[in-house]
Amino acid sequence: MPLVQVRLPQRQRSYEIVIGPDLLSKLGRLSRTVLGSQSRRVALISNTAVFERYGRRTLQSLRAANFKTSPWLMPDGEQHKSLRSLGYALEFLAESGLERGDAVIALGGGVVGDLAGFAAATYLRGIAFVQVPTTLLAQIDAAIGGKTGVNLPAGKNLVGAFHQPHLVVIDTATLQTLPQRELTSGWSEAVKQGAVGSRKLFEQTCRFLQSGGGTDLSLRTIKKRPRTDVRATDLDEVIAAHCRFKASIVTRDEREDIDRTDHKSRRILNFGHTTAHALERLTRYRRFRHGEAVGLGMLVAGEISKNLGMLAPGELESLREAVRLCGPLPRASDLAIETIIRAMRLDKKSVGGVTRWILLERIGRACIVDGKEIDKPTLRSSLRTGLQPLYW
Ligand code: NAD
Ligand code: GLY
Repeated sequence: MPLVQVRLPQRQRSYEIVIGPDLLSKLGRLSRTVLGSQSRRVALISNTAVFERYGRRTLQSLRAANFKTSPWLMPDGEQHKSLRSLGYALEFLAESGLERGDAVIALGGGVVGDLAGFAAATYLRGIAFVQVPTTLLAQIDAAIGGKTGVNLPAGKNLVGAFHQPHLVVIDTATLQTLPQRELTSGWSEAVKQGAVGSRKLFEQTCRFLQSGGGTDLSLRTIKKRPRTDVRATDLDEVIAAHCRFKASIVTRDEREDIDRTDHKSRRILNFGHTTAHALERLTRYRRFRHGEAVGLGMLVAGEISKNLGMLAPGELESLREAVRLCGPLPRASDLAIETIIRAMRLDKKSVGGVTRWILLERIGRACIVDGKEIDKPTLRSSLRTGLQPLYW
């Protein structure tokens, strides 16, 4: 059972990520170990879709470890990662009588994890929380590193706090019920992590995707096999490798220091996000899953990197092949280039009004570039080429 340590400068805030199939049944015992014997009550925050599938097992496991527990379910969907839902969640924590030594447990994807984490960060000025991510994207990224928060009508993730979990429990068997598009979205973020930080991780991810059946990188082939199949353990290993990578970034730059511009800044995880956020905003968050938009955004950033003479054409081809392996992406070539550029200006990651682009020097090495260094014709032609449909 792979175990990944997230080491933070303040040692008491360091934590472990436990990875393996069927860990929901061990959640109670694992949580008891980190929360200690004084913790009496845990509030389980989930959504209706996830709780239906995994709620009973989770509650049983927590109760067997002597936690008093009751669930609070939010409706499914990004639009519910809101201040309104947060208010309901906090009232639930108060009504349940949670005390300082108690904890919140988040069971679900990134939406549930971000909201539950923020509730834990703010209730009684901060109580413990445990992440139990059930989407691929949350297992390799969102559940690790302590970013929590909710959206405002003005934009995504505009309110939040850094609040590290006490423990992350990744039950990889939960991915068996994840819809194909959510897998594509998660794999796209996985390709991103390899592309910006580690050629080895990039190649390991691509090999795994290819072994899933040529251009079909989905887990469909795995699902039909018993969990003893070698590919099931490969999946756990790939996820563990991504967790190790994310942990290493968080260890070096826990709070995404705004002054850091080196290739080890946490900000390199925003590779592909300048275009992705513009595409999502323009299509009112209805056309793309976040990771799908990131897939397209990486191709645009890759084109810019090549056009500026930073990235070799062969490296860009490897990136394109990796994105192709993640599965089909929604169309973006119908969106007007000038409208996309206008939407990019609203990027909240800009500094002093200037977008900071994450570009690639090679697979495994990113750099941060001031948007002023990218001339308009380069940006336009990179968008045009990068957003052309890939062929599957
Ligand atoms: P999500 O939480 O909306 O989950 C996607 C869908 O899958 C939902 O419909 C959900 O109900 C369903 N689902 C979840 N687990 C399932 C399972 N095992 N089987 C079947 N269905 C399942 O989306 P996501 O991609 O997990 O997360 C996106 C969110 O994460 C965004 O709000 C984003 O801002 C946030 N995020 C946060 C961080 C961070 O560092 N905190 C990083 C990346 C993304
Ligand atoms: N997913 C971006 C971060 O954790 O920093």
